Amino acid sequence: MLGTELELRLFNYRDTTPLRAGQVDDEPYGGGAGMVLRVDAVAAALDAAYGGPPGHKVVALTPQGRQLDQQLVEELAEEENLTVLSARFEGFDERVVEHLATDAVSIGPYVLSGGELPAMVLVDAVARRLPGALGSEESGLEESFSAELEGGLEYPHYTRPAEFRGWEVPEILLSGDHARIAAWRREQSRERTRG
Ligand SMILES: C[S@@+](CC[C@H](N)C(=O)[O-])C[C@H]1O[C@@H](n2cnc3c(N)ncnc32)[C@H](O)[C@@H]1O
Repeated sequence: MLGTELELRLFNYRDTTPLRAGQVDDEPYGGGAGMVLRVDAVAAALDAAYGGPPGHKVVALTPQGRQLDQQLVEELAEEENLTVLSARFEGFDERVVEHLATDAVSIGPYVLSGGELPAMVLVDAVARRLPGALGSEESGLEESFSAELEGGLEYPHYTRPAEFRGWEVPEILLSGDHARIAAWRREQSRERTRG
């Protein structure tokens, strides 16, 4: 359970495809290798799930989409409902991206075999921004790319033991001086972000 506000529903295009024998993909027009996910199979899945156009954001996962970053995660976390479309093989019939999806999102400039992992990455990143998702042992405020850290990288963390193989925890973190610790962390964050 990632939060109190998350309801996940999974759909398989094969369960609602209008084609025989669970067919959802087909050979590309114009020839070439691989199979393409059919627009009618995706439309049927959306119709079955929502009784028509969803009326909320529909994200097609594709390496050609807007690259996922924390800014986009925050935007998607604002949505009440979100539908995520995955493909396999050669990807979607372009009409899925043009007409059925409202957004196209990539999780990075590389190509994976299918949209399952990208979907999990996106859902995890968005879900942990929802109220109630993070326990007290994890802070969602001061973390890498957050506004609290000016969009920069998080400062380093240490825990016990204070010394291991001669590797020591920075003295300031043991000082109990919270104001100096906060200033040190801010500086570390800025330094890391500058690179
Ligand atoms: C092998 S990929 C298709 C790649 C496509 N032929 C291209 O060259 O852009 C199959 C599917 O995996 C998913 N996928 C692969 N890499 C991805 C990425 N970096 N971001 C988002 N989805 C990705 C998408 O759903 C995609 O349609």
